[in-house]
Amino acid sequence: MNIFLTGATGLVGGELLVTLSKRSEISKIYCLVRSQSTEEANKRLEKVFALHNDEYDVNRIIPVLGNLFDDELTNSLKNNQHLNEVDVIIHSAANTSFSRVNDDLVEKANIGGLTKILLWAKELPQLKTFVYIGTATICGKDVKDRVVKEDESPNLNATHLVKYTYTKMKGELLIREHLPEDKILITRPSIIMGDSRPIMPRSPVILWAMATINHLRLIPVNEHAQLDMIPVNYTAEAIVNLLFAKRRYHVYHISAGEAGSTTALRLSKMLESYFDEMPPFNFINKNLLNQVKHWTKGRLQPESELYAYRKYLDYWKETFEDKSKLRLLFTGLDPYLEFMELGHVFDNTRLLEDTGMANSEPADVYMNNSINFVEKIDILEGAIDP
Ligand SMILES: NC(=O)c1ccc[n+]([C@@H]2O[C@H](COP(=O)([O-])OP(=O)(O)OC[C@H]3O[C@@H](n4cnc5c(N)ncnc54)[C@H](OP(=O)(O)O)[C@@H]3O)[C@@H](O)[C@H]2O)c1
Repeated sequence: MNIFLTGATGLVGGELLVTLSKRSEISKIYCLVRSQSTEEANKRLEKVFALHNDEYDVNRIIPVLGNLFDDELTNSLKNNQHLNEVDVIIHSAANTSFSRVNDDLVEKANIGGLTKILLWAKELPQLKTFVYIGTATICGKDVKDRVVKEDESPNLNATHLVKYTYTKMKGELLIREHLPEDKILITRPSIIMGDSRPIMPRSPVILWAMATINHLRLIPVNEHAQLDMIPVNYTAEAIVNLLFAKRRYHVYHISAGEAGSTTALRLSKMLESYFDEMPPFNFINKNLLNQVKHWTKGRLQPESELYAYRKYLDYWKETFEDKSKLRLLFTGLDPYLEFMELGHVFDNTRLLEDTGMANSEPADVYMNNSINFVEKIDILEGAIDP
């Protein structure tokens, strides 16, 4: 088997690359990498393996220079004779920003970029499987506090909180337009946070939100809403297992399901047990987020409900000094809080039955293994680059 992988330098793609490289059934893994030269691309891939001291075989891991934004991408892939031996494509590259300022880039990468890959894929002589890394959250914000099944999406009527999930939903439809169903494997991870092993996680993305919440302690979110979170190593293992499994479906949630989901409350208890020098967690109504933002601008009305939590306002003043920093943190956190509030649990029966995998542990359990890395996250830097 020869694989073409996109997004190998990212959180999921990096873990996928390492997991795939351990499978003897795979001969070569071609990786689409954004770089100026092959030498630089090799260095980027080498770094993916170096992070956890995994073995890097330069003869099997081959960079292909390319950018999803490049108009000539389809042609350059078509003209690369080595790629004719590719029989599996795994498309993990995407722009995952939740921020409105990045909407155009998100659309360009996740729809435009995917189209370019598909136009090449559909002419590949021996393509067997196109694996798309989608996202379970395409079900939209109309679905609340319940278990979601795979066949509920893609749904064109779903209301999206951010452009990102809309583009991921459109992506699934695009794939179906270009490829026959028997060649499609759509994997939809839920929320990927950290690693369940005692090692440095590949990227802080969602961990940034947890580290920020840990610092703020007064959080406008429903603490009882279910949170379906999985570690990146479980995600990669599940995708690779599905690739080799006898599959009965072409769409799978990669999720914690009912047995493995957690809540903000359970996560907060775990965090409090490690970081006990800060005030205890207090969860308030999501509607108070706007008042928090007013307070950071010095515009809070004297009769505001938020003054009932003066202890936390004083703690914020003391910890962050400059209120604009706090404003930045809450603005960055806003979409995460909205997703947390939805209480989605993604049914994982298909995954467990077809791969024989065990359920992922809940995040408040597996995070105990790598909690020390949460402390090292620079929350302000994460908020500046949404
Ligand atoms: N993280 C989650 O919680 C989560 C949950 C569900 C689904 N997913 C899905 O998982 C996939 C991977 O996400 P991730 O968390 O690994 O994201 P990530 O860490 O941000 O990685 C994104 C990858 O895509 C590449 N990429 C972005 N724009 C590109 C472009 N214009 N041309 C070529 N490559 C480009 C990046 O390359 P550079 O290194 O060059 O930037 C990087 O390798 C995505 O499809 C996402 O929708 C993620």
